[in-house]
Amino acid sequence: MKNTNAQLDSIDHTGFSLDAPIERKGSGSEKWDMMPENFDICTDNGLPMSVADTDFPAPKTVQKTLNRLTQHGVYGYHGHETRYLDAIVGWMDLRHDWAVDPANIFSTHGLVNGFGLCIDVFTDPGDSVILFTPVYHAFERVISASERTILSSPLIIEDGIYKMDLSGLEARLTGKEKLIAFCSPHNPGGRVWSRKELEALAAFARKHNLLLISDEIHHDLVFEGHYHTPMALIDGISDQLIMMTAATKAFNIAGCHCGNVIISNPGLRKCFANRLVALGISADTFGIEMVTAAYSQESVAWLEGQIEYIDANRKIFDEGMNCIAGVKSMPLQSTYLSWVDFAGTGLDVDDVTHRISSIAKIAANPGRKFGRGGEMYHRFNIGLHKSHILDAVARLHHAFDLS
Ligand SMILES: Cc1ncc(COP(=O)(O)O)c(C=O)c1O
Repeated sequence: MKNTNAQLDSIDHTGFSLDAPIERKGSGSEKWDMMPENFDICTDNGLPMSVADTDFPAPKTVQKTLNRLTQHGVYGYHGHETRYLDAIVGWMDLRHDWAVDPANIFSTHGLVNGFGLCIDVFTDPGDSVILFTPVYHAFERVISASERTILSSPLIIEDGIYKMDLSGLEARLTGKEKLIAFCSPHNPGGRVWSRKELEALAAFARKHNLLLISDEIHHDLVFEGHYHTPMALIDGISDQLIMMTAATKAFNIAGCHCGNVIISNPGLRKCFANRLVALGISADTFGIEMVTAAYSQESVAWLEGQIEYIDANRKIFDEGMNCIAGVKSMPLQSTYLSWVDFAGTGLDVDDVTHRISSIAKIAANPGRKFGRGGEMYHRFNIGLHKSHILDAVARLHHAFDLS
């Protein structure tokens, strides 16, 4: 890595000011260092806008905690979870007006792991899982690898944003459906669902006796003017609901692979707890400590600064994209993942992908990976230094100059 200790020391982890981009090449970053393998793009001149982490340093509270651990130098079993659970409970109360009972919280090896465990515990091979597509691609991967089937309910676009089509879905139910896997806020569309939409989904799940997993990993990254409501606050769904949250996206600590599955129904909770015991799954010291540190009052200013920074990136990126003929980015209400529609260019998917990866040399996620409805889109991670956003816009203008 090119960063010196002095450079790292000069980074302000409390508020959010970044004067210089942090060099991630060579740090083992999937987004940066796997570009050749994953996108056939050379690391030297490629621009990674794929994997959902940011290029920002975590808040100082996290840094200080890691320093304390490494200075201590003893890395035995971790057994004291009260501070960790208190931190989660405190954060959900502070930021989401949601009172969580600590007894309902399970720590998993990240949320893909949490999701896989839910599929394993709450469904059987051959059962069907409902997805509102396009949606976070790991859902499909986990469900298929678990030999369950998917009932895809394509989101519809109204006023430029995604909406669920529950009546269309109802008409297509086969009786095999056991569970809905829902992403709130939505990845990749960046939608913050309204309370009314959540109530309608909860009523649908109740009517059809379906379990509902609400993956709220992006809930701390919501832009001004939008308000995220935890599904747990919707009346009448708690017995069928599995909440999933994590500090990893908001504080850029996804490498610690620590997520929470929160279940209030005692029967479901017992089944889930048994499976964790059967598989010997327990949290890792670093994850527990990093999450505890991140969920603190001290991190609030950092988080709000980061949201402002991403919002400024979003404006630059949207403006740049939307003046390319036929290109349209979906207005982001949350997340740092911009969802861009190339259908209006009249180009076919392969040509769009070629221009993005081979001409612009940008590693972005092709929309087809997110399921039905995503085919003509690409997802661009804008959690980057502003200079990279400006660079991305310039590269894409050059690549899509159709004159
Ligand atoms: C909706 C959603 N869920 C889960 C994850 C991944 O969670 P984890 O890294 O905790 O496995 C992501 C990562 O992008 C995501 O967008």
